[in-house]
Amino acid sequence: MVSQLSSPKIISKYDRDISHLFSRYNINSDSDDNLLSICNQKQININFLIDLINCYNDLTNLNKTNFNNYSVLDLVDYLEKSHDFYLNKRIPEIEQSLNKSCVQQKFTFNLLLLNFFQVYKKDIISHFETEETILFPFCKILSRYSKMKQHEDLVYVLENKDAVLDYMDIHKKNNDEVGDLQKLLLKYSPSNNHLSYFEIFLNQMSIFQKDLKIHAEIEENILMEKIKIHLSNFEIKDV
Ligand SMILES: [Fe+2]
Ligand SMILES: [Fe+2]
Repeated sequence: MVSQLSSPKIISKYDRDISHLFSRYNINSDSDDNLLSICNQKQININFLIDLINCYNDLTNLNKTNFNNYSVLDLVDYLEKSHDFYLNKRIPEIEQSLNKSCVQQKFTFNLLLLNFFQVYKKDIISHFETEETILFPFCKILSRYSKMKQHEDLVYVLENKDAVLDYMDIHKKNNDEVGDLQKLLLKYSPSNNHLSYFEIFLNQMSIFQKDLKIHAEIEENILMEKIKIHLSNFEIKDV
């Protein structure tokens, strides 16, 4: 069980994939320091990090964890860091394996798969861009307004809240579409006993889908619900 006194090195020893989570927070996964001292030094919310580690270790923890305790800023920070990791590390790695797979094995569906992946990549990048231009700035300004009560933040919130509420409504539908990719890929999975680039590609996609499940849960069921509650209280008091 992960505790505040566990070190990234020990945690990563039992689950190598967790190093991706540490890298998002600029934590060295080989460090022998305990999480408590690292999080104090880097001003990371340690309880949030431990909850994330437990979900990455075992996805069934996702529905048992109460992420509602965490601030809008902590949640947005994690989501932004994850987008950055997906765009600059995870997606290029997956794409590289797919390209190598197409060179290594001549499947009849190679061209179809390459095209399909390009469409998937384009969709997911535009999904992240929309969140980074519409949703995340709004969350940060709403959060700042609730503390500082500055007039220009109020104007921003009032001007943008309808667009954000509309965006949050269509978000769920988009995420369902992303989830369908895995089913489609498994249909194409060739029966092969040796480890091919295609299998590495499938494995990377499966890890990415697990990551996106945690991402979507925090984004939709925690952050967006918090924002909706914030806005419903807000309308009574401030408009
Ligand atoms: Fe996102
Ligand atoms: Fe999203």
